Amino acid sequence: MKDQIESIRKSAQEAIASVKSSEELEALRVKFLGKKGSLTALLRTMGSLAAEERPIVGAMVNDVRIFLENEVEKCRAALSAAAMEQQLANEVIDVTMPGKKPNLGSLHPLTQVLNRIIEIFSGMGFSVVEGPEIETDYYNFTALNIPEDHPARDTQDSFYITDSILLRTQTSTVQIRTMQNHTQKLPIRIISPGRVYRSDNVDATHSPVFTQLEGLVVDKGVTMADLKGTLDTFAKTLYGEDAVLRFRPHHFPFTEPSAEVDMSCFVCGGKGCSVCKGEGWIEILGAGMVHPKVLEECGIDSSVYSGFAFGVGLERITMRHYGIDDMRLLSENDMRFLEQF
Ligand code: DAH
Repeated sequence: MKDQIESIRKSAQEAIASVKSSEELEALRVKFLGKKGSLTALLRTMGSLAAEERPIVGAMVNDVRIFLENEVEKCRAALSAAAMEQQLANEVIDVTMPGKKPNLGSLHPLTQVLNRIIEIFSGMGFSVVEGPEIETDYYNFTALNIPEDHPARDTQDSFYITDSILLRTQTSTVQIRTMQNHTQKLPIRIISPGRVYRSDNVDATHSPVFTQLEGLVVDKGVTMADLKGTLDTFAKTLYGEDAVLRFRPHHFPFTEPSAEVDMSCFVCGGKGCSVCKGEGWIEILGAGMVHPKVLEECGIDSSVYSGFAFGVGLERITMRHYGIDDMRLLSENDMRFLEQF
């Protein structure tokens, strides 16, 4: 009997020593110390012992029980300490690791230049209005004195959604929208920036999506001199006193007379280079006196009122502003480029 008790103690102690998890430990505890465990089973056989041996054997079994319960407790404590240590090791934070730096954004160069232009025209009493990029044929062409089958439509081929709905090719659409809304509120003095679209090839100075800034003034007694003065003030305020504009006669169906306006090349200063294609000048806008037909289409009496209008290519102004020699950079979203502004 004593040998049996000793052998249970020994094998239990060994088993506990090699336990790997708390589940295993619990299984061992049940196996040796539980109600159907081997120690309890031994106690049940004590009836077969001599009366004087029973208390001795009972005390031995009890000692072994206490010993093993102790061992189980020690093992449990060790297992949970190890688990805690493992968890701490997994969740360790190395405060010396480099952090994640949030990227600071900035305004796109086009937006920066646009904001500056809005400031300049606001100073001259213009307000800003916007128009839709998806337009009807009427606002994009017909109301601007470009009837169906007029060759001017060919130079501004667009992306058509239906036969009469298209992506606008020019911000001049907003002239019509503004005049038709403002018949009671003359004079008009507005600028309208926004995206325009043309079915165009991409090169250093052309893109199928670009930005224009339209200007429109309608009042009594407005002349070409007002147009020249306004654009000259704009160019000199933006670029400095030595910015030179050149007005060339041109044709636009919605203005009469019309002009194309060039600025001295910002790369070569007028000598001729690849950016200005050897000419020394870069075309930056179209302008003219609002055609009487356009005024009348908008319900404005052209014998009383006159007006001037212009449409600036914002990309070219921005390129001139920062000395950028390729328009594609403005839409490619290359961080190395954008971070410089
Ligand atoms: N809409 C013309 C274009 O995209 C530019 C333009 C020319 C606008 C003359 C005007 C203007 O307002 O009067 O080519």
